[in-house]
Amino acid sequence: MYREILARWDRFASAQSRSRHLPPRLLAHLRPGQSVLDIGTSDGRLARDLLQAEPTLDITAIDSHPRAETYIPVIEANGHDVPFADNAFDTVMLIDVLHHDLHPERILREAARVARGRVLIKDHYWVTALDRAVLRLSDYLGNRAYDIPLPYNYLRLEEWRDLFTGLDARVVATETFHYSVYDRCKQVTFLLDTGCKE
Ligand SMILES: C[S@@+](CC[C@H](N)C(=O)[O-])C[C@H]1O[C@@H](n2cnc3c(N)ncnc32)[C@H](O)[C@@H]1O
Repeated sequence: MYREILARWDRFASAQSRSRHLPPRLLAHLRPGQSVLDIGTSDGRLARDLLQAEPTLDITAIDSHPRAETYIPVIEANGHDVPFADNAFDTVMLIDVLHHDLHPERILREAARVARGRVLIKDHYWVTALDRAVLRLSDYLGNRAYDIPLPYNYLRLEEWRDLFTGLDARVVATETFHYSVYDRCKQVTFLLDTGCKE
């Protein structure tokens, strides 16, 4: 019962903001016909939304805790050890995944390895203690119903930049935003170029 209430809240809140505003932001960084690996796809709904908007995308989806029912086929795999060859995908997406893991650097290294062009990240950042509290509440409401790990591993913008240091990739775009005036969670996208690899 409690889980069903949380799941309903998540569907309502997402429909109001995230599902409307996030796909266009991501599509701005994807090209028609590209191969895309979506690490941490969950139920694949976001990937399905991207495919509806741009059907020529070739999206492969993996998750360490896939849902029982998914919108697209999902391979069970951990982002710490991605089961694909080096440079296998044009773009690798990590959308609201890294703050769910205590070792985001491992996932990033794997993402940079299998991406021959870009790594597209959407996550959160925080400035004040209130930001962190709001993020925790939002994360709990959005994910508790589905048993998604919740380590609440939020980073400041400078900590994100430190995380990217040492990767075979360079940051080519950073954008901070809110989904709406009512949404107090701080959102950020990073576009990494992996074209500098040997
Ligand atoms: C909040 S959901 C985001 C789902 C989807 N990317 C989206 O934006 O709608 C985070 C997902 O990341 C997955 N995840 C967390 N750590 C992971 C890891 N190390 N490898 C693969 N998936 C992971 C979780 O299982 C969960 O399904």
